[in-house]
Amino acid sequence: MNYKIALIRGDGIGPEVVTEAVKVMDAVGQRFGHTFDYTDVLLGGCATDAVGVSYPEGTAEACKACDAVLLGAVGGPKWDGRPAEQRPETALLAIRKDLGLYANLRPATLRPALADACPLKKETAEKGIDLMMVRELTGGIYFGKRDRYDTEDRGVEATDLMAYSEMEIERIGRRAFELARLRRKSVASVDKANVLETSRLWRSVMHRLAEEYSDVEYRDVLVDNCAMQLVKDPGQFDVVVTENMFGDILSDEASMITGSIGLLPSASIGDTAPGLYEPIHGSAPDIAGQDKANPIATILSVAMMFRYSFDLPNEAKAVEEAVDAVLAEGWHTADFDGQGDAIGTKKMGDLIAAKI
Ligand code: IPM
Ligand code: MG
Repeated sequence: MNYKIALIRGDGIGPEVVTEAVKVMDAVGQRFGHTFDYTDVLLGGCATDAVGVSYPEGTAEACKACDAVLLGAVGGPKWDGRPAEQRPETALLAIRKDLGLYANLRPATLRPALADACPLKKETAEKGIDLMMVRELTGGIYFGKRDRYDTEDRGVEATDLMAYSEMEIERIGRRAFELARLRRKSVASVDKANVLETSRLWRSVMHRLAEEYSDVEYRDVLVDNCAMQLVKDPGQFDVVVTENMFGDILSDEASMITGSIGLLPSASIGDTAPGLYEPIHGSAPDIAGQDKANPIATILSVAMMFRYSFDLPNEAKAVEEAVDAVLAEGWHTADFDGQGDAIGTKKMGDLIAAKI
């Protein structure tokens, strides 16, 4: 088969990690007889530098003409404080919204070879970590009305509105329950229903779904308690579903307990193609261009692309097994421990591609 893939290389370490992921994809193509056609799409700070805006016209259309999108990372201090249309983050949120990517899947797995990289107690790590964070991605406070205005007696005031509709909650909830059916059949829904009205609505919709998916075990977890449970006993979680901002925060926490944020992939999907695949880490401008970045999160994002966009589970497994095989040999980049000296981005990509 032939697949068309949009590449958003982005800023900072983005281009370096995407190059390694493409290397691995091409190795998969060779082994399994697929061809991948790549189209570069400009988005992020690099787009601001090139054409003056971070989300150039035609970006969404260029992505929609492809079967899937692979994104490195966007952002950096260079564009902080710029007007909204020049900020890389604005472009990232816009592309998520324009492609209808409301479901963000962020698996946090403690890979067997990396048990020692887990910063938690040995007894805790030994129980294993294999959870799927399902983050709502196109609603909530990220997309609500924002404002900033003068007050008479309190100086300037700013507001960000958090809104959720039943429709938005139900569709992400269904995704979570469906995924749980393919895993260990357990859903934890994370909210702040003791304070927020959006959370109380969230909870009532989730309870309705829990009755419908009665074969799946369900529970509510308050977000502050979830943050604590993730470091106390992460093995208790299978699928964790939550709103946009809680998911942003909890997924960084979940990544760290698996050893390094440089290891975790993500998939953003909607009801229609293309899906967007990206590492959960940022653009790491401090190490950009130095061949130090860990490409594994982006490479594992390609595995998610094979699984969720192309329905190629064997190809996905080949990528995951290649990563595990390289890790089992002790190879590591500078962001986590292994045997001997850390290797660079390119070498890590070469080693993984060679195992395919
Ligand atoms: C993420 C990132 C983004 C987010 C930023 C860069 C806007 O932190 O994908 O988790 O908050 O969604
Ligand atoms: Mg984040």
